[in-house]
Amino acid sequence: MFLIQRRLCSLGSRAKFLKTIYSSKILGFSTSAKMALKFKNAKRIEGLDSNVWIEFTKLAADPSVVNLGQGLPDISPPTYVKEELSKIALIDGLNQYTRGFGHPSLVKALSCLYEKCYQNQINPDKEILVTVGAYGSLFNAIQGLVEEGDEVIIMVPFYDCYEPMVRMAGATPVFIPLRSKPIDGEKWSSSDWTLDPQELESKFNSKTKAIILNTPHNPIGKVYTKEELQVIADLCIKYDTLCISDEVYEWLVYTGNKHLKIATFPGMWERTITIGSAGKTFSVTGWKLGWSIGPNHLIKHLQTVQQNTIYTCATPLQKLSAIPVSAFCNSETKSQFEKFVRFCFIKKDSTLDAAEEIIKAWSRQKS
Ligand SMILES: Cc1ncc(COP(=O)(O)O)c(C=O)c1O
Repeated sequence: MFLIQRRLCSLGSRAKFLKTIYSSKILGFSTSAKMALKFKNAKRIEGLDSNVWIEFTKLAADPSVVNLGQGLPDISPPTYVKEELSKIALIDGLNQYTRGFGHPSLVKALSCLYEKCYQNQINPDKEILVTVGAYGSLFNAIQGLVEEGDEVIIMVPFYDCYEPMVRMAGATPVFIPLRSKPIDGEKWSSSDWTLDPQELESKFNSKTKAIILNTPHNPIGKVYTKEELQVIADLCIKYDTLCISDEVYEWLVYTGNKHLKIATFPGMWERTITIGSAGKTFSVTGWKLGWSIGPNHLIKHLQTVQQNTIYTCATPLQKLSAIPVSAFCNSETKSQFEKFVRFCFIKKDSTLDAAEEIIKAWSRQKS
């Protein structure tokens, strides 16, 4: 008995000794490993630590690499855009916080522009939210409206952030592939990638909260046709789901294609958030300025997310963003866009109001 006790005692002191060595090793050599164990990632970001753009940017830093991957233009932004931004920086008031949901002159300019597309009035304060890029809009929309346990339909291939954003909201992405038609040696085009309507319907069920649409599509370049959008719209209505429509490339469409907004289809405005990006539209991707447009009963939830996360976007960029779309078109497509109001920026609101009045009077005269 005594022997056993002694053995146990000596085992105990050896274990104590080993424990001291082991813990000093952890403390001495691997504090960060210890901390990493203690402060593990939040469950909502589990498995989301790789990102295609982080990897690509690293690889593209090598000067011998031509980076065709990332959607940033390699042409200079228009000179007047750069010049005006430097002028704005000299105005004290424009270097301070602005209205959290979008600078008044930008939301007003956006409502004027998009009212032409929607053929409907858009309330600049309640139906538009200016965000940190289209990313910000996507994040706000998904966080604000998608619930844990919901399902969100994503068409494959897709812009990479859709999936992690859905997962961070605790929801499940449900994928549907765009399938390419057989082409038999013919010229192949992005429109050859289509959705099978029956397969799409099979993805909808009572848990489906939303579908994420991207037209014009990145990376394929597909511009969804009226018929294709109608199929999606019909399913959204039938299964009472939201549509988050990422339209950041809305102004970059090749001749022969027409970009249509699903929010303009009957019954869709009430259930659609349409997302745009100044970065894409004006070749200034580093501005990270985007917007969401939709009915107030949806936009108000995106506003709630924004006011409790980033609160507001960069003021000077917003003051500058009411740029004429026609300024970014070539001679063939210019006429198509000239019907849109030409907005001026760095003007007082009173000047903009006066200009708007003149343009309205002019168009009344013409019709
Ligand atoms: C389809 C799509 N959506 C959203 C974004 C993000 O746009 P932003 O830079 O305005 O956040 C991109 C950027 O490449 C994109 O291609």
